[in-house]
Amino acid sequence: MLQLPSLKIADTCETRFILFDDLKLLWMEARGANTVEDQSPEPESSVKHDNGSAGRGEKSHENIDDGNMAADTPVILVVDANVRHLHREKLDQVFPAKSTRYFEVPPGEESKSVATWNRIIDFAFSGPLRRNTPLVAVGGGVTGDLAGFAAAGLMRGLPLYHIPTTLLAMVDSAVGGKTGINHAFGKNTIGAFYHPKAVLFDTAFLDTLPQREWLCGISEVLKYGYIADPRLLDQATTLADPASRSQNLLGEVIEQSVRIKSEVVAEDARESGRRAWLNFGHTFGHALETQDNYCNINHGEAVYAGMIAALCVSRKLGYNVSDKPLLEMKNTYQLDLGAYTSAVDRLVTLMTQDKKNRDNSIRLVLVKEHGRPCLHPVNNRNLLKEAWQYTFKALS
Ligand SMILES: NC(=O)c1ccc[n+]([C@@H]2O[C@H](COP(=O)([O-])OP(=O)(O)OC[C@H]3O[C@@H](n4cnc5c(N)ncnc54)[C@H](O)[C@@H]3O)[C@@H](O)[C@H]2O)c1
Repeated sequence: MLQLPSLKIADTCETRFILFDDLKLLWMEARGANTVEDQSPEPESSVKHDNGSAGRGEKSHENIDDGNMAADTPVILVVDANVRHLHREKLDQVFPAKSTRYFEVPPGEESKSVATWNRIIDFAFSGPLRRNTPLVAVGGGVTGDLAGFAAAGLMRGLPLYHIPTTLLAMVDSAVGGKTGINHAFGKNTIGAFYHPKAVLFDTAFLDTLPQREWLCGISEVLKYGYIADPRLLDQATTLADPASRSQNLLGEVIEQSVRIKSEVVAEDARESGRRAWLNFGHTFGHALETQDNYCNINHGEAVYAGMIAALCVSRKLGYNVSDKPLLEMKNTYQLDLGAYTSAVDRLVTLMTQDKKNRDNSIRLVLVKEHGRPCLHPVNNRNLLKEAWQYTFKALS
């Protein structure tokens, strides 16, 4: 269990970090306070919605404008199907069926789609729904991004709670307010900035996380090591190996990662400047994921390779940085990218198509020295090709 302080994420939003066990108290607090309010007559402005025109949902829904939640309004819980299966007992304890409507998300990136988003919307409207009905996302980044986007749209914004169950979601995706789904046009191309009311951490979920998924989170921790706190480089290396993992270190690393991300996001919520640093390794990584058609290499592995490439460019531009901490983890990641050497030209072209580029330049996050990132426009295709070639040689 991990106790983190409240962190201000944006001017209008504060994300609370509380213990999973405190969740019950949180609901009781919210519902207890509202029971009194609920005794008053329904506001005049209550509107009956009829969504029959969409061909489904015979029920109509109350649309209440204030922040009160009726004691009997069930919570909508959007949960990764693997997590529901593996942690059923624990979830049922805090979210009993009588006060919770469960929606299971099939595991995998394919679920971050318009189709699954639409199913959540239909599901939400198929039962009692008010503006203050809480929507709780339980799962990794896929479930969090998808459910967060549904929460952002439903009734123009339901109160959202994240319970991240992967290391990546704990150290990265559950914090910062980015929600969204994928489209044929590209990954994360439909979405909204929408902050959760609280993020709840329980590291016991991680006991069932497969090692390969664990390493996805480790890649993001390594990223924080390069862009903010170099101590995390050693700590991530220790945590990557199941034999040297400890709960204390895990807690420390999650807390520090969340702190770094929160601080960056608080300064630049909509990614006009400093938030772009969080993309260190990602511009290279996204190109690799696209080239791979999201089949063999997962996000964390692509980011791991992408950081090696970005550090190579940093060194070629004269900065004093080392990829030794990454290369020492080569056997842990068990990544063989030798087969991609022939795709170097295509990978550089994919990088030029990145949605974050401006003025025909690739905006690369480089590292000047460990802990000091910078944003650098790069036009030189040969430089990028060399970085890819170096990376594939190192990881084959
Ligand atoms: N919003 C953001 O700021 C942000 C940041 C980084 C990544 N992302 C997004 O996050 C997604 C990747 O997230 P992810 O790596 O968490 O992947 P994921 O959500 O797909 O989860 C990975 C796998 O682990 C399983 N799983 C989850 N929790 C488990 C547990 N406790 N025990 C056993 N299995 C478990 C899932 O069923 C799935 O098979 C991508 O879509 C990426 O775009 C978003």
